[in-house]
Amino acid sequence: MKSYSIAVIGTGYVGLVSGTCFAYVGHRVVCCDVDASKIERLKRCEIPIYEPGLDKLVAEGMQQGRLRFTTDIDAAIQAADVIFIAVGTPMSQTGEANLDYVQQAARMIGTVINGYKVIVTKSTVPVGTGRLIAQWIGEASHNQYSFDIVSNPEFLREGSAVYDCLNMERTVIGADRPEAAAIIAELHEPFGTVVLKTSIESAELIKYASNCFLAMKISYINSIANLCDQLGADVDEVAQGMGLDSRIGHRFLQAGIGYGGSCFPKDTYALRHLTKEAGCSFSILEAVIDTNEQQRLIVIDKLKQSLGTLAGKRIAVLGLAFKPNTNDVRDAPSLTIIPKLLEAGAIVRAYDPVAAEEARHVLGDQVVYMPSVQDTVMYCDACLILTEWEQIVESDWEKLHSSMSRPLLIDGRNCWSAEKMAELGFEYISMGRPFVPQRETSLRVPV
Ligand code: UDX
Repeated sequence: MKSYSIAVIGTGYVGLVSGTCFAYVGHRVVCCDVDASKIERLKRCEIPIYEPGLDKLVAEGMQQGRLRFTTDIDAAIQAADVIFIAVGTPMSQTGEANLDYVQQAARMIGTVINGYKVIVTKSTVPVGTGRLIAQWIGEASHNQYSFDIVSNPEFLREGSAVYDCLNMERTVIGADRPEAAAIIAELHEPFGTVVLKTSIESAELIKYASNCFLAMKISYINSIANLCDQLGADVDEVAQGMGLDSRIGHRFLQAGIGYGGSCFPKDTYALRHLTKEAGCSFSILEAVIDTNEQQRLIVIDKLKQSLGTLAGKRIAVLGLAFKPNTNDVRDAPSLTIIPKLLEAGAIVRAYDPVAAEEARHVLGDQVVYMPSVQDTVMYCDACLILTEWEQIVESDWEKLHSSMSRPLLIDGRNCWSAEKMAELGFEYISMGRPFVPQRETSLRVPV
């Protein structure tokens, strides 16, 4: 295998995980960032994100001298054969991806480029951005050196990004020239993955098309779950039956309070914006977005149906991150649901194994952040499950039951079987699954 010299611009989760994994398989990687304090922390092997397995791989890469961190982006660009742009593309107010950081990176490359380079976009960017990057680099370098632009989108899931990278199902390589595509394919050889070579525009669209399709699967099963609630069917059984058809498959049919995170919400909005700009209509996508926004509020309706008014009620919220195994709260359902509970006058206590601090930055101190599941549910009038962390699901619910003022459990993630929770004495309400009357129990703490 040929070992390449790689510069990765941007040490967010995409840049950091990709760079670390490229070093792991034998390439020489320099990860760069303008954020000096972040680079200092990384040099001390302190990982700024919660990503299982990443710390070990970073330490290993640094020890073996294949992975370095720097703020000297110019030098890193000049020493590299291949440069990955992995900077953020946050959503602007119109829903469009903001390309300011991408443009900065491109201009930086153009200013210091000193020979032929392959410049790869990892950031999720609107179709047409590859051409813009070429233009920006060309302008800044006065077209003195030749270079190729490649679109190589990432498909990593937060919380299992290292696993996904080392076991990647496919890599999409969008390029104009086959020679440039061949270099990026060679770079990926150690991963033993399926390589799809496409045009730059197709590669850029594959990323959005994939994420929006997955978001659509989630909104679809959530709509089926809502229907199940009305018709007495069980969404788990329905999803299982659907998934047995290999054309549909079992994955991404887990009903609940909908998707959150840094990708699906942003990418669905961005594709909607792209569609409008292109003068096309995409009504399915509109419905996916709308369904997801409504889905979060259903747990509040369910809560009100059981408790009547929420004013003065003590509500325990378990899980703040948008999904387990991450401290990311970007667009997490908890950030929509908790303000609604507070608005309705509820007293909210919340717990998350790792994301409480991140949530506090957004929600402030109106919420009481608790150190454990036990402390959170004590004396509460109802408990809402918003993230299916193992620490939450595997708690001793028999014991927890007796410490709640009212054992009302609204499970936004369908974590348990209704029969089991009813057997423990819970008034257990989940998403799209029939209610099972609870077993009577006299165990309850005095209020
Ligand atoms: C996603 C894509 O999976 C990944 O390929 C892409 O690169 C980035 O976006 P990520 O946002 O990390 O990854 O999380 P993912 O595991 O896909 O879950 C996204 C959201 O959908 C979470 O809020 C999750 O709870 C929700 N979800 C997922 C469901 O509600 N039901 C499901 O069946 C699956």
